[in-house]
Amino acid sequence: MSNEFVSRSLDEIRFWSRIMKEHSLFLKLGFRCEDTQLIQEADHFYHTFEQIEGKSHAFTELTDPEQIIRFNMEAHLAATHIWAFKRRVLGLIIQCKLPGGNNFPLLVDHTSREANYFRNRLEELNAGRLEPLPDAIIDENVFFLRIMADHAKFIGHLLDPSERQLVEQARNFSQDFDQLLFQAVDLSGMRPQSQTEPLLDQFLDQNRVSVVSLRDFKKTARDLIDACRIKSIIHPLLADHVFREAERFLYIIDMFEASLTRKQAAN
Ligand SMILES: [Fe+2]
Ligand SMILES: [Fe+2]
Repeated sequence: MSNEFVSRSLDEIRFWSRIMKEHSLFLKLGFRCEDTQLIQEADHFYHTFEQIEGKSHAFTELTDPEQIIRFNMEAHLAATHIWAFKRRVLGLIIQCKLPGGNNFPLLVDHTSREANYFRNRLEELNAGRLEPLPDAIIDENVFFLRIMADHAKFIGHLLDPSERQLVEQARNFSQDFDQLLFQAVDLSGMRPQSQTEPLLDQFLDQNRVSVVSLRDFKKTARDLIDACRIKSIIHPLLADHVFREAERFLYIIDMFEASLTRKQAAN
């Protein structure tokens, strides 16, 4: 157990606990006012992740790894609970038990996939087994491309229908990312033969181009929403939230690119 373990754990927890905290708020805002029990549960998760986030910033790279193992377990348990909550809410919506609520089923499913991702990352870190690079490249891209495709769909549906140009742009991003996702799934199906360095390198390059333009689109949307220059029912924090998730994906792509380059240099 090293410094690397501590810094990677803190990096994941700092990013994802804030995300989980915000999901709790978005879910709460989408419930009907009579759903007081669900609103309370969402509030409870908000405070749980706010506390975890605070703790993650109190720890440093020099914190005892043993303490971080326990902290990872604590965050893992909270992620498991919010995952179960989101799946239960999804069930209620799909069975039409919350008529008139404002949480899209795909949005709830999406946030539960993010909780599950967070949980898996923590498990891997504590077990000290990270996926081999070529597998990680494909799996992370499959995960994040689908997340990006969903975001484009949410933005398209939450903008006011009268914002025709922006809705159209969001729809184009949705199609672009659906296509990239299918390409990633194809590459995944051709494993391990598809895991050559030139193919993986090209895969990352191609995905990066689209993620950069989606990231810029989200940034513009966020700034326009903040300045109240466009009509939508997008919460300003949701606009910033999806922007940060695109930045996270770019950061991961760059990390993979750097690892591939190091590998090539070593050969
Ligand atoms: Fe999210
Ligand atoms: Fe997301």
